Amino acid sequence: MTRRDLLLGAASATALSTIPLRASPAAPREPAFSSAEPSAAQLNTPSAEEADRIRRMKWWHEARFGMFIHWGLYSLLARHEWVMENEGIPVSEYEPLAKQFKPKPYPAREWAKIARETGMRYMVMTTKHHEGFCHFDTKTTNYCSPKQGPGRDLVREYVEAAREQGMRVGFYYSLMDWHHPDGARCETDPEARKRFVEYIHTHIRELLSNYGKIDVLWYDVSWPLDAAGWESERMNKMVFELQPDIIVNNRNKLPGDFSTPEQQITAEKEGRAWESCMTLNDSWGYQRADDDWKSPRRVIQNLIACARDGGNYLLNIGPRGDGSVPEDSVRVLAEVGQWLRRNGESIYNSDRCQPRRSNYASFTRKGNSLYMHVHFWPGDDVVIAGLKNQVKSARFLAGGEKISFQQDRFRARFTGLPVQAPDHPVTTLAIECDGEPEQDNIFVRKEKPRASVSV
Ligand code: GLC
Repeated sequence: MTRRDLLLGAASATALSTIPLRASPAAPREPAFSSAEPSAAQLNTPSAEEADRIRRMKWWHEARFGMFIHWGLYSLLARHEWVMENEGIPVSEYEPLAKQFKPKPYPAREWAKIARETGMRYMVMTTKHHEGFCHFDTKTTNYCSPKQGPGRDLVREYVEAAREQGMRVGFYYSLMDWHHPDGARCETDPEARKRFVEYIHTHIRELLSNYGKIDVLWYDVSWPLDAAGWESERMNKMVFELQPDIIVNNRNKLPGDFSTPEQQITAEKEGRAWESCMTLNDSWGYQRADDDWKSPRRVIQNLIACARDGGNYLLNIGPRGDGSVPEDSVRVLAEVGQWLRRNGESIYNSDRCQPRRSNYASFTRKGNSLYMHVHFWPGDDVVIAGLKNQVKSARFLAGGEKISFQQDRFRARFTGLPVQAPDHPVTTLAIECDGEPEQDNIFVRKEKPRASVSV
């Protein structure tokens, strides 16, 4: 295992960041007679648990970009996936949607094709959202796709479609349930809790037993129980017994393998994996009137921001009740996909990147290559201040044309550029440096000569 693998992995802070490579001078000396083997931490090698996590998460770190799919009975009402609670709809009024739910054949094929064309590498579909309706075949309830309107197992369709397109397969699963009779009273009634936890654990067992290899388990909302109440340790143990290669998130009240900042891009400290999940407009589930679509440029900038700080971007689509994807989503994702076909080198399998200061660009990095992503093209020249490395060469990532440059202690200027941005909606400069790219703006602020006093 290389050091790069280690850094890419979700290695714990103890294994990597807090153990100094050299003992500090103040550290007490090991007694000369000690025959003890050095511990894993002293050797700076990960524990068996960490090594296993690094192994399981490798593909995911390289992938960077995934598709979230929120689809349920709420999609028929077309007013957001929280409609049942936020409009106080009684179960008796909501339940009949299960019979009316008649999606077209294999809508997941369209989603998976869009995911691939967008440059996404994995998918995560809601198998059961808070509404409680199961898209999979289950022995626990009739409130599931095969026994209702669809008359078929929609999770199976999804899994097959995702695999056909080479996508890794993820399952979203909501612990909170607005339909199950014990879904709320489990908080105060011990018998109800037992029954409900059994119900939920059975779903997870079914999902991870009946569909072959599953790559991601994405728990959601743990209300109203805590980890002890959900028996989350036992839950995760079962998950890893059934799927030794799977990765799990942190929403069953245990840390799991990765954190899940929602609708924001917030990096975890190095050593802890994270994935920012985000809507394309302002709703996860289909909401007909929500036209607040992110632009392709915004999506690309978000993906860059995630990649820069070592995170993933899980971007949502909310198909309609029939399974079709809103045209505005398709339009935005198509443009993102075209951009990634030209610029994917700067995103997939990228490393954490320290440089970040610019008025018109953001950065990613792979090894000693710095990718400068210019979203507001200034024309003529593009400049980075405080780059501590020597630039060796530069080129446009799309097309590969060489770029000339000049560099002094304070700035690297890339010159002779076209007035109009050569790529759209973001132009990427690939800048080869003589070491790992690092930027120091305080150096620029302090050291750049001030005006002479005599002026
Ligand atoms: C929130 C919402 C839910 C959505 C999820 C995605 O927890 O309750 O509707 O599925 O975020 O991260």
